[in-house]
Amino acid sequence: MHPVFLETFGCQMNELDSELVRGQLTTLGYRFVNDPAEARVVLFNTCSVREQAEQKAYSRIGIVGKRKAAGETIVLGVIGCMAERDGVDLLRRHPQVDLMCGPAELDRLPQLIDNALRTQTAEDSVVLSQEERTALAGNRSRRSSTLAAAEDNLETLDISRAFDEASIGGARRSAQVRITRGCNKFCTYCVVPATRGAEIHRPPDHIVEECRRLAEAGALEVTLLGQTVNHYRYEHGLAVTVDGRQAAQVGPGLTAFRSAPPASSRVTTFAQLLRRIHDEVPQILRLRFVTSYPRDFGDDVLAVMRDCPRVCKYLHIPAQSGSDRILKLMNRGYSRGEYVDFVQRALALVPDVCIAGDIIVGFPTETDDDFEQTCSLVRELPFKNNFIFKYSPRPGTVAIDRFADDVPDAVKRLRNNTLLAIQSETSRRVHAAWIGRTVDVFFSDVRAPRVSRERTEDESAHENAGTHASVMELPQLSAAGSVGVKALHASRAHTVDSGSTRWQAVGRTSGDLICSAFAAT
Ligand code: 5AD
Ligand code: SF4
Repeated sequence: MHPVFLETFGCQMNELDSELVRGQLTTLGYRFVNDPAEARVVLFNTCSVREQAEQKAYSRIGIVGKRKAAGETIVLGVIGCMAERDGVDLLRRHPQVDLMCGPAELDRLPQLIDNALRTQTAEDSVVLSQEERTALAGNRSRRSSTLAAAEDNLETLDISRAFDEASIGGARRSAQVRITRGCNKFCTYCVVPATRGAEIHRPPDHIVEECRRLAEAGALEVTLLGQTVNHYRYEHGLAVTVDGRQAAQVGPGLTAFRSAPPASSRVTTFAQLLRRIHDEVPQILRLRFVTSYPRDFGDDVLAVMRDCPRVCKYLHIPAQSGSDRILKLMNRGYSRGEYVDFVQRALALVPDVCIAGDIIVGFPTETDDDFEQTCSLVRELPFKNNFIFKYSPRPGTVAIDRFADDVPDAVKRLRNNTLLAIQSETSRRVHAAWIGRTVDVFFSDVRAPRVSRERTEDESAHENAGTHASVMELPQLSAAGSVGVKALHASRAHTVDSGSTRWQAVGRTSGDLICSAFAAT
């Protein structure tokens, strides 16, 4: 059947979408290839969060366009956030694109590909209508937010994912499971609410079952995904399909997280969901979740993190800025003081918890003083790492209409570099506190640095089979911040190349600190 090349840009949510698309198309008989030159169907799963990500995708679209102009018959599809954000305008500006599919409509992708393939092979020249080439939510997902049940065929895509040993989660031993789609927060800089739509929560039984099946397929680590995972809240009986099944549910308003659930309704909160997965699927040795939102994070979740040994002691909880004035303009809904209080609460309740986040520098009107507030936050709190971004104005956001992008790029760059240096110093302090301790490390990647030939998929899977989490001695910490390990217990996968003598294993602690270990065969 037709060979497909799929390249993914952007966040973990996109990676998961790509995995599901891959499973869906494989079931239908498509074959995936690693080289776009061999593909009959080329798909780009795109990201709109920053302009740079979009530019990369446009340049890939341009390359495929040239091949098509030179006479190659290729179906070119743009899926994901850029498709949703640009809408049909993208088809007008890039006529080489055959189909577009937004992130909330991916269940319709096979039909779109089929339409495009049939048109290209038809004897007569057929012109597809816009409807036959595009699947975009528009503002449909927002309109449906008055209904309890999401009009949500995407749930079928999550449910029907592949669970065999060879599937990505199984082979890598590390899988992702979506718990919430979309976002209701509307931070002024962020395009996600426009591209992924309103917050939709998956039924807890579906999530637990998905985790169980991933564990049966060999996954040892599961990461729960959502834009604001701590907003997960499922009200049972509120959304039921005509045949009596629980359906995905539109999230409640933000005030719902600031009061206890009404006694009359049966609700599954994020804390309860986490505990259910932990207790009901003990084969999962590492249970993570990203991303947390700094408001509405209850002690109930922190208690589950403290009490459940297989729940990772890791919080990715973006502060975005340390200046109250900027936080307000960003519509983040918390102050610096509230953020600091939350982190202090987490550190007090969950021993050894590691904190990471995201920060934007150069948000409109950000002064040296505002920036200094951010610097002092990164000095003050024990962030293990922060992803630091230069503000990028995005069409479709509030900020682009409301504020001029008035911080010059040179200043953004300088602030970015300054903050990176401060973060390095903070990371060093956080790492130093672990020197001499014994920790569990999940080695997800084992490679032989001296082997140059590409290993086959079979061989890679075999390697992974030997990399279960194991107890390691950590005698030293290098200046770069990686952790030296005395002995590598786990690796029994040395059959690949007799010439290699030194194996490098890269893994993570429960708190997501990166460890690297060397072993001689
Ligand atoms: N410009 C720069 N960074 C952004 N992010 C989101 N939108 C923008 C933007 N317009 C960053 C935020 C978010 C992360 C995923 O991307 O820090 O947490
Ligand atoms: Fe974007 Fe804010 Fe939602 Fe995160 S919480 S996805 S930054 S709107």
